[in-house]
Amino acid sequence: MFKINDNYLKLPGSYLFSTIGKKVNEFQAAHPDKTVIRLGIGDVTQPLAPVIIDALHGAVDEMGKAETFRGYAPDLGYEFLRTAIAKNDYADRGCDISADEIFVSDGAKCDSGNIQEIFSVDNKIAVCDPVYPVYVDTNVMAGRTGTYDPQTEMWSDVIYMPCTAANNFAPEIPRETPDMIYLCFPNNPTGATVTKAQLQEWVDYANKVGAVIIYDAAYEAYISEPDVPHTIFECEGARTCAIELKSFSKNAGFTGTRLGYTVIPKDLTAHVDGKDVMMHSLWARRHGTKYNGAPYIQQRAGEAVYSPEGKVQLAKQVAYYMNNAKVIKEGLLKAGYTVSGGVNAPYIWLKTPEEMTSWEFFDYLLENANVVGTPGSGFGPSGEGYFRLTAFGTYENTVAALERIKKM
Ligand code: MLT
Repeated sequence: MFKINDNYLKLPGSYLFSTIGKKVNEFQAAHPDKTVIRLGIGDVTQPLAPVIIDALHGAVDEMGKAETFRGYAPDLGYEFLRTAIAKNDYADRGCDISADEIFVSDGAKCDSGNIQEIFSVDNKIAVCDPVYPVYVDTNVMAGRTGTYDPQTEMWSDVIYMPCTAANNFAPEIPRETPDMIYLCFPNNPTGATVTKAQLQEWVDYANKVGAVIIYDAAYEAYISEPDVPHTIFECEGARTCAIELKSFSKNAGFTGTRLGYTVIPKDLTAHVDGKDVMMHSLWARRHGTKYNGAPYIQQRAGEAVYSPEGKVQLAKQVAYYMNNAKVIKEGLLKAGYTVSGGVNAPYIWLKTPEEMTSWEFFDYLLENANVVGTPGSGFGPSGEGYFRLTAFGTYENTVAALERIKKM
């Protein structure tokens, strides 16, 4: 009789955004007359920029002609895209990352879930609390997290780094030493950021204790303040302790198109039997074995993101969403809410009113304003009593949602 990976049985409930989707569908079925505004999952609403559409059309046409048709993509990504990434996202920021340290994929969510595979199950992970649920859930699936306590909603073998109003939603170096540290800045879900000096402390710490930092920079395009790092590789010493995950979903609207990349510097090594093993080689081996590369069409679209017109068009799109963030933040403040985020990130993090739990507020908001958000407790125990709204809706829906919330 076959056996299953029983780590899956340890996972409590379903994936956060699936649970929300189900609840919203039930509400909509029971109230077909109500127009629900969804500011829950961070999914974009603006169409792909013209320059990206042109690149997609061009690539589709190439696929239709024998002389330009492409089959399997190189498993680590086409050179044209890796070179554009290395230049624009790293060299232009003064960071030393070469094209062959970039692994193109079909999105940062998969990479953020899969990256743990190249590390031992004996490693201890540290996560921010609240946190993007993928980091924890995928470590549960791998059997790295110990047992779950439904009372505290915590795993016995995970180091939680509370991010609360008291520390400005920035994690502090944990007392117990982790092997793998997940950081995401600008942060999902709180929208908080750290300064370059603060991030440098993490890099110094990781190098000192021999930990690896898995740095999710998916929301980097939303940074508006000067002292906020756009990549961990702005920090000295990051090449020996960090892996960076990047997405095209949020800066270029590829949530449905799918494209992302992971950076693993060749200097990131582990000592095994007296030898240095490059984590770059392990990920290349994994990529080569389990993956046939992101589609050519998408990679051409990704290349267009870095064209001069692409930069202008996408800056406008980011500004559009950040205007929504302003509408949400100012509207909530006027309505008397305690609010943070929304300055360097498309997420607004609010304190639930009148001591409501996060899920109580979810129901209250859905029933009374027909607005969907994300309960903070879904991201971890320190998110209890908080709630996340996304700026990725349309401007019209965002304004309407705030009008409804103010009337509640
Ligand atoms: C979120 O809402 O937290 C994100 O959109 C989810 C994701 O990017 O996978």
